[in-house]
Amino acid sequence: MDKKVTLKTLQSMKGNQNVVMITAYDALFASLFDDHVDVILIGDSLNMSFAGKPDTLSATMDQMIYHTQAVGMGAKKSFLLVDMPFGSYMDKKQALKNAVRVYQETSADAVKIEGGKEKADIVRHLTDNAIAVFGHIGLKPQNARSEGGYSVKGKNEEEKQSIIADALALQEAGAVAIIIEGVKSDVATEITATLTIPTIGIGAGNGVDGQVLVWSDLLGLFEAFVPKFVKTYIKGGNLVRDAVKQYASEVKNGIFPNENFRY
Ligand code: KIV
Repeated sequence: MDKKVTLKTLQSMKGNQNVVMITAYDALFASLFDDHVDVILIGDSLNMSFAGKPDTLSATMDQMIYHTQAVGMGAKKSFLLVDMPFGSYMDKKQALKNAVRVYQETSADAVKIEGGKEKADIVRHLTDNAIAVFGHIGLKPQNARSEGGYSVKGKNEEEKQSIIADALALQEAGAVAIIIEGVKSDVATEITATLTIPTIGIGAGNGVDGQVLVWSDLLGLFEAFVPKFVKTYIKGGNLVRDAVKQYASEVKNGIFPNENFRY
């Protein structure tokens, strides 16, 4: 087994090697991904992909802890990053209480918080209390309802300057890395060149320090909508449907189990 990926590993990769991140919500898939990625994100996207909800907003702390424990059983070497769900870090006290829960009840290495300068004091409070924090700027899925949907950021000078200020405020507050989601690639590239901490992009082009994709998007299993930035490496939905269809047909027709599958 390769050595455990730590914060030091990730920091040393900046400028040298791209960071590979994928989401996972359970032990089985985490164990399949573990050899090939640096970071596994237990994202609150599980509320959509796993729980079937329309957005991430109703994910709870209990859910995040449960899924992080499961991923921790399957992943032996990847760095484990867990999303703080919507409503779990509304002020410093609440954020610390919930982040401490993450460290005490799971094997997560860091927590992730959506937000920029407006969350800098919360990030500082967590890092001052020995919690490693990833920021998440640009398109923030937890803002989907308050902003009336999802939209790419950094399309004009004002937005660009605002995102750059977010990134700098988070770095200053002690964030150890930043996810940049749904941001014009030239803006993400500029942020990456400005910061000393790693940037991980999703829909932010190629000029960042690493990439993250949601596992069920990458495997073509989440079919409700496929954003432009998602590359589906296999048509997982079709593969699963075909396999189950064949199984059902073989059972109905008495073909399975034949003598090869009997005691
Ligand atoms: O919840 C999630 O999966 C995420 C990624 C989209 C970065 O935050």
